[in-house]
Amino acid sequence: MFKRVREHLSLQSSPAAGAGHPAGLLAPEAGCNLFPFEEASFLADPYPHYQRLRAQAPLYRSPHGYWVLARYADVLEALGHERLGNRPSRFSTLHGSKAGRYPCANLAANILPFMDGPEHRAQRGALASLFQRRVRAWAPQLFAFVAEGLAALGEEFEVMGDFATPLARGATRSLLGLPDEARLARWSDHFFYLFTKIPSADLRGEIDSSLSEFRQWGQSLLLESGARGLLRDFQGAIQAGTLTEAVAIDSLLLLYADGVQNVDTGIANALHAFARAPEQWQLLCADEQLLRPAVEECLRFDSPAQFVARTVLEDFEWKGQLLKKDQSVFLLLASANRDEEQFEAPDEFRLERTRGMHLSFGKGRHACLGGNLFELELEAVLAALRKRVFTLQLSSPACWQARSGHRWIESARFRITSRG
Ligand code: HEM
Repeated sequence: MFKRVREHLSLQSSPAAGAGHPAGLLAPEAGCNLFPFEEASFLADPYPHYQRLRAQAPLYRSPHGYWVLARYADVLEALGHERLGNRPSRFSTLHGSKAGRYPCANLAANILPFMDGPEHRAQRGALASLFQRRVRAWAPQLFAFVAEGLAALGEEFEVMGDFATPLARGATRSLLGLPDEARLARWSDHFFYLFTKIPSADLRGEIDSSLSEFRQWGQSLLLESGARGLLRDFQGAIQAGTLTEAVAIDSLLLLYADGVQNVDTGIANALHAFARAPEQWQLLCADEQLLRPAVEECLRFDSPAQFVARTVLEDFEWKGQLLKKDQSVFLLLASANRDEEQFEAPDEFRLERTRGMHLSFGKGRHACLGGNLFELELEAVLAALRKRVFTLQLSSPACWQARSGHRWIESARFRITSRG
């Protein structure tokens, strides 16, 4: 998804750029790259660019017909807008008409992020009740995973490889009841291409083989006796006729991929924010009551989810513009989270905020199903760390990566000093 935006959107750099154009629109032909992911400085800190967008082009129209929303109030409104949907447009490889041809389109048709209306509501209702019940039952086990992850850490560590990724993988497999399987990482990587414009037929072929392989594996798991975790709940729901086998298998991949690749990144981003604001770490260490606000602030300040996409379901006028059927609209959640109209001193990482709700999980009918799980996980990590760690520092600058509406730390080394 990022790639597509990078190819097509541009933004003028001059403060007077909007002059002569309707409110909220910039001249599409002008300017610099809107999402210059090839620039290390943008990857490390995209927020000044988002700030310019909010000021100059809150509803930006690209020359190729995409729309980009940058302000909190607009993003919030768009998240609930009935004329903006999640189903892939007819131009997409994932469009329902291709479900018989491509496993990727077939899988997309079975999972929540690409559904709309009553079909989405019914499936979400069924999955959410199974998932949330399982999270509640499983939650006490989380602490063992966190303790194990921390016990393995030395005074210096690489946050993703040594800590966040193994923790997220172990915890998610245990919650879902999945056995250890080396191919899960590849399946999950390929799954995330569903959220981007798949760049070539060859890659689509690879993704299709991966997804088919996962489906075979998932099907064999569903047949096994002695299943655990959510897998066991899915077996019961299939027998009761409240879930189909295809939806159960494809949803397992969705939950595994989100449960690992959002969680490890979310944890790494949080530690990064604290390392750069040592006084906030000391505040947290001094006051346990700040744990929950800290989780919220980490999510607001630097979320792995930079934006979500919607498709215009039918022509309609909005904010003085005509949005046309099948156009894409990108909702910049990460920009909304730094909107100065919504948050005081938005570029400061402050645990003691008195107002404002982040949009990192979206909001409304498609809001993140695993948001509360991530909050539990991050809270458990911070609670354990504050007991053990006196100072938390970066010992090398973070390397950042971006794809599929996400931006994440690929690697960063931290140094900690333990409490006496
Ligand atoms: C830092 C952690 C996470 C972030 C920032 C995050 C963010 C998001 C966002 C932005 C959406 C889309 C909202 C929209 O389109 O309106 C979403 C949807 C979703 N997330 Fe998460 N997520 C996180 C963790 C998780 C976890 C741990 C799980 C489950 C294991 C999960 C499962 C899902 C599912 C199933 C959906 C689709 C919901 C639907 O379309 O109805 N997420 N998430």
